[in-house]
Amino acid sequence: MNTLPSFSAPKITVVGTGYLGATHAICMAVMGFDVLGFDVDQRKITQLAAGEVPFYEPGLPEKLDEALASGRLRFTSDLDEVAQFGDVHFICVGTPQAPNSSAADLTYVDAAFAGLAARISRKALLVGKSTVPIGTAGRLAGMVADISPLGTELEVAWNPEFLREGFAVQDTLHPDRLVFGVASEWAESMLRQAFAPLLAAGTPLIVADMPTAELVKVAANSFLATKISFINAMAEVCEATSADVSMLAQALSLDDRIGGRFLKPGLGFGGGCLPKDIRAFKHRAEQLGVGQAVSFLGEVDSINNRRRVRTVDLVRELAGGSLAGVRVAALGAAFKPNSDDVRDAPALDVARMLYLEGAVVTVYDPEANANAHRLYPDLNYAGSLASAVEDADVVALLTEWDEFRSAEPDYLGSLVRHRRMVDGRHALDAGRYRACGWEYRALGRPYQAAPARQEAKGSVQQR
Ligand code: UDX
Repeated sequence: MNTLPSFSAPKITVVGTGYLGATHAICMAVMGFDVLGFDVDQRKITQLAAGEVPFYEPGLPEKLDEALASGRLRFTSDLDEVAQFGDVHFICVGTPQAPNSSAADLTYVDAAFAGLAARISRKALLVGKSTVPIGTAGRLAGMVADISPLGTELEVAWNPEFLREGFAVQDTLHPDRLVFGVASEWAESMLRQAFAPLLAAGTPLIVADMPTAELVKVAANSFLATKISFINAMAEVCEATSADVSMLAQALSLDDRIGGRFLKPGLGFGGGCLPKDIRAFKHRAEQLGVGQAVSFLGEVDSINNRRRVRTVDLVRELAGGSLAGVRVAALGAAFKPNSDDVRDAPALDVARMLYLEGAVVTVYDPEANANAHRLYPDLNYAGSLASAVEDADVVALLTEWDEFRSAEPDYLGSLVRHRRMVDGRHALDAGRYRACGWEYRALGRPYQAAPARQEAKGSVQQR
């Protein structure tokens, strides 16, 4: 894609080349802009400049190659160079959960805006993309005006980002919508130029004030988290009856008003966004005196966390009541498939809880083993699905990678010690597993005894 219109395209900088920033920088260069990416982490800069994406994201390495080959994408760890280069500066640094609080930690955002404000000497636009508490953009605009030699000439705008890990390239090059939070017509026109190829392609645009733009992002993530926790709350109700949450979700999803996306029951949500964003939103709403309006987000969080505990319960039940010395194969560590991100990953949390109850846990994730090992070095890690399940007493599917979905139940059965499966993601065909003699359990689905006798490894199946 190189579809820049005829006007002079703004020079773009991207400050913070983590997940969001690296993808944004690469895709802006692919769209035809001259882009300079910046990070304080020299290792990331060196990797990206050498054509290496520092995390797993399908399709992004190819786009990085394309952008570097075009000559339009460079990386630096010199903020002075960034200040001189850019007309539009996108700030994409992280806003993690603060230590010992549910609030967002804005240290990196503040430092990025302050650093640029002190250095920029010509009219330019600072655009925040990070997810922040409402009111942050306004506060930063004041701070920038105080610091900058240009005063209010150096403007701030907000442009929330909705990309999903695993679909980062698609979501950046073909977003559902663009949202510009601006305080002036000039800021809007700069953003229109910076996103000209996407606007020309018909991407819907909402031009808003800055607080609304900030709110769009947290409201979207809160809605998605609520939808997931809603169906998982229904799973809890199903567990108290003999109802089946999979069928329930399917029936609900056929109602156009409800729809099936983000209505998949199971182990629930994790990752670097949904959990911390709903907590920070609740915290900010309380500060604003409207805590009651979003107090339900606390319940959304609790439902989500209970799914992890309940998954451990299922493994324990299948193991006969105690986890001590039980060999568990934990399939998956990433917070979702097609990602190597283990931040607040439900899968890894379950593996950790099983380990703390005395189980011998072997984790296998097609991409996230290294990241998981850094976080939990005490767990065992296997290099393949086959070695993870070998001699397992219970297998727990915790992240729904295709490799696990497509595994043959009989083949897996020939490797394990006992054919016992906890399907934490409703990803497997329960009928096929049961037909192959597996005891199959999933959250929110009624218990059915396995049709075949309990198998020991290597023994012949009875149907
Ligand atoms: C999310 C938002 O979707 C994205 O718009 C925002 O920019 C960043 O946060 P991401 O964290 O990449 O994106 O993951 P997402 O695909 O939204 O999934 C979040 C979690 O919800 C995952 O752990 C996933 O397994 C879980 N999930 C999703 C469910 O448990 N059930 C579902 O039906 C859908």
